[in-house]
Amino acid sequence: MAEKRKENAVVISQEKIAADIYSMWIRTEAAATAVPGQFISMYTNDGSKLLPRPISICEIDRENGSLRVVYRVTGPDTGTAEFSRMKAGDIIPVIGPLGNGFPYGKAEGKRAFLIGGGIGVPPILELAKQMKCEKKQIIVGYRNAETFLRDEFQANGEVYISTEDGSVGTKGNVMDAVRENALEADIIYACGPTPMLRAIKQYAQENGIECYISLEERMACGIGACLACVCQSKEIDDHSHVHNKRICKDGPVFLAAEVEI
Ligand SMILES: Cc1cc2nc3c(=O)[nH]c(=O)nc-3n(C[C@H](O)[C@H](O)[C@H](O)COP(=O)(O)OP(=O)(O)OC[C@H]3O[C@@H](n4cnc5c(N)ncnc54)[C@H](O)[C@@H]3O)c2cc1C
Ligand code: FES
Repeated sequence: MAEKRKENAVVISQEKIAADIYSMWIRTEAAATAVPGQFISMYTNDGSKLLPRPISICEIDRENGSLRVVYRVTGPDTGTAEFSRMKAGDIIPVIGPLGNGFPYGKAEGKRAFLIGGGIGVPPILELAKQMKCEKKQIIVGYRNAETFLRDEFQANGEVYISTEDGSVGTKGNVMDAVRENALEADIIYACGPTPMLRAIKQYAQENGIECYISLEERMACGIGACLACVCQSKEIDDHSHVHNKRICKDGPVFLAAEVEI
């Protein structure tokens, strides 16, 4: 596959959708080939911040050549804070689409769980829009009542919500919502914090369910060259010849049984 090149994307619109959470649409060539579960590397215009920020693709509008990202501002002097100040017409350098994406075709004819937790919620939206399956059960976990993207999920499947403070849906985490609603699945797709993915992997293993998880790790190059983002795998990697997989290139989506988390 041709090496991905950096391009100047253009901000189409930006809005704040919850505390510290922003939704941005950009016009980018990456929209032509992007699939759910892939990400883009977004560069800041601040010379002191050289490394790009990997952000998942939340929605794809192929017709208009645009992508939506939904991201959390992690602190006052961060790259994500700089993104949040951008306005329509601003230029944002990006590389993408990167990574492999969710193998959503495997869900056809099956009962699926589409699980997102915290800032792992956004990529589940495009997955929900594109997936065709017998039963689409979207389980999303938030900290509190700021349940961003909820209406959009409701337009695309059966939605179950968990909140840490119990203000909406099940009190607890996404697995508590699965148990409280006695949900069942033949296949699972999930993105979120590592402890959540670990619990989902264990549940899938115990119940013999095929399970795909999207891992998050600090990245540097974002294109498979520097090994900053490796995780431990069961198989030996072709590139590094050790039990490693590069999350940016071999992932971020993996069959849960193939990786140690
Ligand atoms: C595949 C993938 C998809 C992601 N999708 C989203 C998303 O859709 N929405 C969202 O809000 N966040 C997402 N993240 C996390 C996001 O990349 C970090 O929150 C972000 O890079 C932090 O940058 P900053 O400018 O706020 O912080 P800074 O502290 O300024 O970042 C400093 C450096 O550390 C890196 N870094 C810091 N935290 C992380 C992290 N958790 N993961 C990777 N690199 C990190 C930054 O990229 C940067 O190079 C994703 C991460 C990965 C790996
Ligand atoms: S970030 Fe460089 S190999 Fe993944």
